[in-house]
Amino acid sequence: MDSFLIYGGQRLKGAVEISGSKNSALPIMAACLMAEGRSRLNGVPRLSDIDSMNKLIGELGCRVQRHEPSTSVDGPPLNGPLLNGPLDIEVLDEEHCEAKYDIVKTMRASICVLGPLLAKRGRAVVSIPGGCNIGDRPVDLHVRGMQKLGAEFRTENGNIIGQVRSRLRGCRMYLGGAQGPTVLGTINVMCAATLAEGETVLVGAACEPEVSDCADLLIKMGARIKGHGTPEIRIEGVEKLVGAEHRVIPDRIECGTFMIAAAITNGELELRNCKLDHLIAVTDRLEDVGIRVESENQSTLHISSSRRLNPVEMTTQPYPGFPTDLQAQLMALLCLADGISVVSERIFPDRFQHVGELNRLGARIRKEGPTAIIQGVKELQGASVMASDLRASAALVLAGLVAKGHTRVDRVYHIDRGYEKIEQKLAAVGASIERIKESKTVVPMSIAAVA
Ligand code: EPZ
Repeated sequence: MDSFLIYGGQRLKGAVEISGSKNSALPIMAACLMAEGRSRLNGVPRLSDIDSMNKLIGELGCRVQRHEPSTSVDGPPLNGPLLNGPLDIEVLDEEHCEAKYDIVKTMRASICVLGPLLAKRGRAVVSIPGGCNIGDRPVDLHVRGMQKLGAEFRTENGNIIGQVRSRLRGCRMYLGGAQGPTVLGTINVMCAATLAEGETVLVGAACEPEVSDCADLLIKMGARIKGHGTPEIRIEGVEKLVGAEHRVIPDRIECGTFMIAAAITNGELELRNCKLDHLIAVTDRLEDVGIRVESENQSTLHISSSRRLNPVEMTTQPYPGFPTDLQAQLMALLCLADGISVVSERIFPDRFQHVGELNRLGARIRKEGPTAIIQGVKELQGASVMASDLRASAALVLAGLVAKGHTRVDRVYHIDRGYEKIEQKLAAVGASIERIKESKTVVPMSIAAVA
């Protein structure tokens, strides 16, 4: 398994291009299972989770083709996430309806095929996703929503098996759960409802931009959806959907992570291909910490930081609140604030595996139930730490950027699931970070030289 070796203390300066959103692209790719003809998706990042979804929809009968990046006027291919070639998806065969354990266990977003398969093929077999490193991740709300549309379910040998007798039928339903709305559950039921008979009203729907992005694609395919982005989504079922072209929204979590990278290194970054509107709670909290966020036309952000970081209180919440997917990264920043910060997790109350690892770097964090109390320290010191999930890994990389000496972050396959070329993007703005391939054991020359 690869590791990152980071030599902390470099101020980041320069421009970073934010990639398309992983969490938008994954359900959107699954939604393409419902369309007739070819769909073309632009801005899909190159990530291992995207490869897993490619494989899954491939097994479900889709031809998936990634085009080469655009070429410059002079010929050679250009680099950068915006120039990732488009991804074409076309359903060729509707016979298979199964998402097997070997894919589901590597990527929980595999559950996104449930709604599209039931709506279009009348049958779905999806391996039940177990718990994961951020806590229990049940899918009961997905199943309940589709039962209300008329699907029948049973579980057998670790699989959820869903069946539709004739056609799904629209209805009015409440979709919220004990922890509030569900993002992928909303998308799954919304997808299924596009091909149901009559009107479906989802009350208590998630308002995340990823839900709206998927609705925008479905509308281009011929779906009739209103109210996406609000807690009440109305869907008037249609007979069929046809392939369409779409660009996925910028990754708000990657953007927030780079905002924090600028802040923690006392640096100055220009972030391109952002959507400031999607980051309103994040910007609000970071400004309280003492970070300056200036925007040019909503899509380019300039982030700079004063030397003193203020402690803050923050609770993760459904959108438009502060996202759980940036909790760990904010905590890394607050480790260096001048005083005591309090971070509470409302979405995934056990999502605190980074706490012990940040403490290994010299942080002073105490966990009390779903809350972490962070006593700011003057500096962090490099050490070997272990990534436990995608966002926890990002927090450790951020801490490593500022920790004194070398930090080695092991198991970075987690980060490869959700951050496109992160070490290249960080190195391009001045970070000293290098990927150590599993077989390589020596300290790389470039880092040894800096040391
Ligand atoms: C999405 O997961 C994201 N994943 C997660 O990002 C993100 O943390 C999460 O939304 C919350 O914003 C993708 O988009 C691929 P939920 P999702 O259903 O939809 C409970 C990352 O790091 N719940 O909105 O699976 C659940 O336990 C990942 O990129 C039920 O009780 O999350 C949680 O407490 C990690 N029953 C709350 O709802 C259900 O059937 C919200 O989860 C479903 C969810």
